[in-house]
Amino acid sequence: MRLALLAIPAVRSALELELGRRVEYHASLPSTQDRARELGGSGSGPIVVVAEEQTAGRGTHGRSWLAPAGRGLLASWIFRPAPAEGALFALLAGVAVVRALDGLGMSTALLKWPNDVEVGRNKVAGALAHATTDGEGGSLVLGIGVNVHQRREDFPPDLRERATSLALAGHTVDRLALLVRLTRELDRVAGPSERRAALDEWRKRATLLGQHVEVLRDGRPVARGIARDIADDGALIVGDERIARGEVRLQ
Ligand code: BTN
Repeated sequence: MRLALLAIPAVRSALELELGRRVEYHASLPSTQDRARELGGSGSGPIVVVAEEQTAGRGTHGRSWLAPAGRGLLASWIFRPAPAEGALFALLAGVAVVRALDGLGMSTALLKWPNDVEVGRNKVAGALAHATTDGEGGSLVLGIGVNVHQRREDFPPDLRERATSLALAGHTVDRLALLVRLTRELDRVAGPSERRAALDEWRKRATLLGQHVEVLRDGRPVARGIARDIADDGALIVGDERIARGEVRLQ
């Protein structure tokens, strides 16, 4: 669990040189996403905000993101200009996560539309994007939470059947190494020339393509059919319908 090394200024400076972005490390913070949005709003350039613990971590659909201190990778990156629409970039972030995990010897992670990373059908990571416009291409704040060292009892009872961690899947992953690889992979999927390859990789690693699914929005079913593909903007094609947002589950 070497993330705390980031508290050492010399380590941070070395990493900043290596990654080409500022690293802001916090032992505890309400939310790295809120902090990065605050920095982005005041014009900050490339930065990654990292925390050992969040007291008000944000998930998608207004949910919370919970992780005991020191067990997850909790980070938010500012991209300026915004590399893509938020929804598309959050989906591409899943590709960055699976590539980073591949690089650390864990190649079994799969992707569930729109932004979930799963291992053995259980969620191990998720991404969240917030865009701002400022007349100069705007910026995009991308937050990722990866369950790294969690034990089963670290998840609330209602999540235990649906969430997992890299450790529970049998992998001891160093969070600092994951942060470095993930930052590189995010910069890679942010490049427009990489877009097609990243979308193709998403398709290859997708859990639900070709399967009969139900799409829910605000908890209510809005579409049913075969999940046929994703469009270039990240929308899910279910039967003849284009689904821009929602949650999807196997029927
Ligand atoms: C999801 O619900 O799947 C997205 C979860 C995103 C969680 C991360 S943890 C780091 C960053 N800070 C937050 O408050 N949320 C994101």
